[in-house]
Amino acid sequence: MDYFSGKRVLVVGGSRGIGRALAIQLARRGARVCVAARGGDDLDRVVAELHTAGPGPHGRVAFDATDAGSVAAARDGVRDALGGLDVLVCGSGSARCAGVFDAPDDDFRRMLDVNYLGHVNVVRTFGPELVAQRGGAICLVSSLAALMPIYGYAAYAASKAALAAFAESLRQELKLHGVRVVVHYPPTTDTPGLAEENRTKPPAVWAIESQSGWNKIHSADRVAASIAAAIERDQPLGLTGFDSRLLATVMRLAPGFFRRMTDAEVRKAVAHTARAAS
Ligand SMILES: NC(=O)c1ccc[n+]([C@@H]2O[C@H](COP(=O)([O-])OP(=O)(O)OC[C@H]3O[C@@H](n4cnc5c(N)ncnc54)[C@H](OP(=O)(O)O)[C@@H]3O)[C@@H](O)[C@H]2O)c1
Repeated sequence: MDYFSGKRVLVVGGSRGIGRALAIQLARRGARVCVAARGGDDLDRVVAELHTAGPGPHGRVAFDATDAGSVAAARDGVRDALGGLDVLVCGSGSARCAGVFDAPDDDFRRMLDVNYLGHVNVVRTFGPELVAQRGGAICLVSSLAALMPIYGYAAYAASKAALAAFAESLRQELKLHGVRVVVHYPPTTDTPGLAEENRTKPPAVWAIESQSGWNKIHSADRVAASIAAAIERDQPLGLTGFDSRLLATVMRLAPGFFRRMTDAEVRKAVAHTARAAS
């Protein structure tokens, strides 16, 4: 039987992008899915897609993950939609790209709110239910940028690294209660969120990306499938594709080589941008 068949799954950030793709895949595999996000219209559209994908029942709740009160107020809605909880996916988040001295003042706090504290609010609201039933899984969606922070992503990478550290501590704590915690580190993924992020990219970051041999864009479906696999196989460190695994291995085993390689790419791209501007 499929691991997700009959599982009750809450996907926070399920109205678009990676979360939406994951919600639909899990519904196809027989899960009952409740999607959560701030925007009501997007949620309604996904719920309709979930009903086409699998028998459900499915549902939706609207909350702002950065507001602990708003998350807590959704507890009953999730219970009504699913009748309980087996898998919690914290997949909301957003990215802005800017140099450390060029970023708007509130970028650093905003990234921490959305990508770190928002997940903490969700885990602290729904996690106790999994602990009480002594079973279930929590998946936190971080980013490859947490493992290998890159030029222009200081605020974002730091928020995702905070989440990864939180998750490791949480994993140890909840293992004692039979609850599994996995972290997934998506690579660059084709989503509405990436389109938004692209609008914030300075020319040097575009140049780095276009000249780098490492930057590959994955589909939301592919990333969602690897998140589902990480939950099913209880992988504490989930990655998508050979390219992510290779990068993570090089970073871990040969950090000096990785730094020389990225520094050279940055130097070349910044010089190229300066030439193009003159
Ligand atoms: N796309 C990439 O290249 C990439 C790479 C690495 C990691 N990731 C991570 O993967 C996750 C999904 O990214 P994505 O690209 O699929 O993003 P996306 O297309 O922008 O979707 C983000 C989802 O999160 C929800 N959301 C955002 N802020 C929220 C909040 N404060 N409270 C509740 N829900 C909120 C959005 O709905 P509302 O706006 O309506 O609330 C939407 O459902 C994020 O954590 C992102 O950092 C993405």
